[in-house]
Amino acid sequence: MYLYAVQFYNLKGDIFMNKELRCPVIAGNWKMNKDPSETKDFIKRIIDVVNNNEGKVIVCVPFIDLPEALISAKNSKLLIGAQNCHFKKNGAFTGEVSPSMLKSMGVEYVIIGHSERRNYFNEDDKIVNKKVKAALESGLSVILCVGESLEQRELNVTSEVISSQIKRGLYEVDKSDMKRVIIAYEPIWAIGTGRTASPDAANEVCSLIRKIIGDLYDIQTSEHLIVQYGGSMNSKNAKDLLSMNNIDGGLIGSSSLDADEFLDIIAAVKS
Ligand code: 13P
Repeated sequence: MYLYAVQFYNLKGDIFMNKELRCPVIAGNWKMNKDPSETKDFIKRIIDVVNNNEGKVIVCVPFIDLPEALISAKNSKLLIGAQNCHFKKNGAFTGEVSPSMLKSMGVEYVIIGHSERRNYFNEDDKIVNKKVKAALESGLSVILCVGESLEQRELNVTSEVISSQIKRGLYEVDKSDMKRVIIAYEPIWAIGTGRTASPDAANEVCSLIRKIIGDLYDIQTSEHLIVQYGGSMNSKNAKDLLSMNNIDGGLIGSSSLDADEFLDIIAAVKS
């Protein structure tokens, strides 16, 4: 007997798929904030909730906080991520850290292609792709960030931008490795601005991302893909965003710096 997976679309083209197939993932991106002692205090505050939480929780901390974060999160369900890596294993790259170095410490996730890295450090899709492949090869899981600028949104080219970032970012990434890839939709105009995308607008792009992955790979891969929303997500808007069909979690910046606020966002997943 053959079983066919079916994609259902509503009138707007959103994909209806079984959200239960996917485990919600809340990730904090601390950016350039907190020192090791603040890291220790923060993790102490959230650890019990994380251990009793059904979904996954990741904190992506600055490189210098990784040792403390890994020690504080030992034997718990909290997962630790980095915010960047180089694409080479080692060599004369002053100031850089390789994926295999991160893996050797016990780091499990790395954010790649964040718009701040694209904008301030000139990372284009080619570099992003090299980093994605190197990170996966080292055994890390990847949070690949994509998102359009305000200008691109106003020019109505959001779909093209997202599609191109995904296709280039995942060029030559094997289907079997897609289990270790999360895609975070972070519209640049919503990052750090307090201007969150509406749940419908965010869901529309997250749905498009799932469709692109379905076209690039197959339906099973797209059905299991975790798609996060990021951009001014906080304890007040998290519930509405996270309840959308195609939004499986959040990548949270400033609201992940305060333990109480972050705990409220974690709680919003099931409420
Ligand atoms: P904010 O939540 O501060 O808008 O940042 C989002 C982000 O860039 C997460 O990677």
